Amino acid sequence: MTRGLLLLAATALLTPAPSSVWADELDPTGQWTAYEGGNAALPPMGWNSWNAFALDIDEEKILGSAETIVASGLAAKGYRYIDLDEGWWARRGADGRLVIRTDRFPSAIRSDGSTSFRPLTDRLHRMGLKAGIYSEIGRNSCGQIYSDDKAGLPSGTVAEREIGLYGHVDQDIALYFAEWGFDLIKVDGCGIRGLPETSPRVLSGEFRAFPPLIDSDSLGRTDIPAVRALFTQVTEALNRHNPDKDFIFSLCIWGSADVRSWAKNVGNMSRTSEDIFPIWGRMLFNLDSSSRRALYAQPGSWNDPDMLYVGNGEFDADHLTEARTHFSLWAMLNAPLIIGYDLRHAAPDLMAILGNERVIALNQDPAGNQAVLAYDSDDVQIYAKTLADGSKAVAILNRTSAPLDAILTADHLKFRADANIGLTDLWTGESLHFRGEHGFALAPRQTLIFRANGKRALPNGYYLSEMPGSVNPAVDGITVPQPEPVTHRAILPWQATHGTGEHPRYGGWGGAQADATPYGEELAIAGHRFTSGIGVLANSRLEVRNDGFTRFSAMVGVDDSARDRSEPVTFAIYGDGRLLARSAPKYFGESPSPIEANVAGVKLLEIVARSAHPMRFPDPVTWGDAALTR
Ligand code: GLA
Repeated sequence: MTRGLLLLAATALLTPAPSSVWADELDPTGQWTAYEGGNAALPPMGWNSWNAFALDIDEEKILGSAETIVASGLAAKGYRYIDLDEGWWARRGADGRLVIRTDRFPSAIRSDGSTSFRPLTDRLHRMGLKAGIYSEIGRNSCGQIYSDDKAGLPSGTVAEREIGLYGHVDQDIALYFAEWGFDLIKVDGCGIRGLPETSPRVLSGEFRAFPPLIDSDSLGRTDIPAVRALFTQVTEALNRHNPDKDFIFSLCIWGSADVRSWAKNVGNMSRTSEDIFPIWGRMLFNLDSSSRRALYAQPGSWNDPDMLYVGNGEFDADHLTEARTHFSLWAMLNAPLIIGYDLRHAAPDLMAILGNERVIALNQDPAGNQAVLAYDSDDVQIYAKTLADGSKAVAILNRTSAPLDAILTADHLKFRADANIGLTDLWTGESLHFRGEHGFALAPRQTLIFRANGKRALPNGYYLSEMPGSVNPAVDGITVPQPEPVTHRAILPWQATHGTGEHPRYGGWGGAQADATPYGEELAIAGHRFTSGIGVLANSRLEVRNDGFTRFSAMVGVDDSARDRSEPVTFAIYGDGRLLARSAPKYFGESPSPIEANVAGVKLLEIVARSAHPMRFPDPVTWGDAALTR
């Protein structure tokens, strides 16, 4: 929110004026505003050529992989999208129409001399699959800017090699979707970060300069609104050219430009970090880029920690423990399950991992709740995910390369300690029962993953922190994007230990969190701790879908982690746009106040925390024990 709007908001509180006159982004809209376009009510599943073949793709490899997906039964288990990544462009023609490399895709040759992917997409569709294409938001692609593999890259004049969407959004999207029949597009962003005037490839005349909109190392030097506006153009074009709405828009700007905060309003899945590598530390790095962003993913728009590397490097057939861990965690995070392996040569053990239906079912659970960290350390993490039927999935991750012991408690699951808890191991199928807590011995890098049943601590409803898929932080109170510091810092594979290492770079720190404050501390108001609740900054508005619950309740106040502490905060609950309840102004240090509302018949709740006056850096507030009950 701009300072001007904040001022209006504050004035609105002081001056009793009709809210329509003083409308600002904390005013209720009565609408769910996270992205619902396209076809991604569940995390997309499929295969992409990049991790398997890099730029060296062709029709035989794509179709071979597609045939294996069908023949192996993986397609029937949900892996539907067959996505071409970079490597298909020949050039942009004089009329602006993109030309396909027919040496690699012979079926694209048409009698009039033009090219079309329609024969390929028709073929994939006849196999019961969907087809994905790769593009770029700037003029030039990642491969053009960063790769020396000239054989895999477009050729021709400078203009002919400008194969990105920039200046061609409508023409290209119409070509990809209306004419060629693709169902998914992945849009990269190297062309708006990697071609400053000083770039050797610009100086040599190879490419036109593009004054960078993204500086991956610096949010301050990134033009976030301009980047968002470019991607929004694609969203709009996709709507225009897909009357049946059967498309997926996959954003690929690697967590830069604060995209982790806004992709949920623009597309169906969005990369939260730079590329994954088949190295343990790098997998942890990618995992961490999504793991504290549960509230920023909902059915329709998912966090994407990048494609699976199961099958390669430290996740190959000689590292099945690591491969299972990688797969289990991606499933728990509701990450798109996009295989990146040459399946034509996959070992049966690897196919069994990718095909584990019990694990896939967690990922594809219709409630769409990304797992929340129930226990967090550099060594062990416990992730809990609430499923549509009220049961839980839980994953216990040993991040270290040594064996260690971990204890799972009823509290981690928000189950009662005095009742039986049943666990089913999703890799072995074995069951066990316990009360209170249970100890596990974990092998190096092992993840244990279970379905869990028990008596819910909250018997007749859900804590909001258990249902992140139904909560949208429409306004999260962040005034200045900050990079998140708590991500595993792996060696950059393409840099070794040159330079000083990878510094915090992914915006979104201070965003709303489930069961933690915006900065990852324990939720507490005046010394009263909450193990369940939503932590968010003041001057925020969260949208909450209500599926038949009749009561909303919470204990509210300024969180003990507040730094500014000067402003009281008022908490309000709206139902379908109408004010249902409002707290008194709450000051830092005041004990938590109950707030509740009858929400019977209400479809959309909005919970708003507003400071009395504008704040440059709003304080954290806590919706302790926030819950919907019957
Ligand atoms: C970027 C993306 C990768 C892949 C390559 C292709 O690096 O992050 O996933 O698409 O471009 O060049």
